[in-house]
Amino acid sequence: MKCSLCHGNDGKLMASKAPDLSKSKMSLEDRVAIISYGKGTMPPQKGILDAASIRGVAAYIEEFRD
Ligand code: HEC
Repeated sequence: MKCSLCHGNDGKLMASKAPDLSKSKMSLEDRVAIISYGKGTMPPQKGILDAASIRGVAAYIEEFRD
């Protein structure tokens, strides 16, 4: 499952009730948790991505911030 399906390449697609990631105020640890375990329609990535990849993606989201 690709993140961009719901979040787009810049975090702003907002498909399937996804929030605008460029406006996300979550901490890095909270993003690691939501990416690992999922929430609502967002699918969990634990077991699909390893811990280092999840952390890398969580950090990458900060680049979307306005
Ligand atoms: C099927 C659609 C879908 C996919 C695929 C998806 N997400 Fe999400 N994402 C969501 C939804 C919906 C929420 C809001 C969950 C809630 O709060 O109920 C969310 C929330 C988030 C949040 C929290 C944003 C905030 O501040 O509230 C982050 C970070 C995030 N997603 C990152 C990712 C990453 C990284 C991937 C790929 C590994 C991904 N998402 C794949 C739908 C998706």
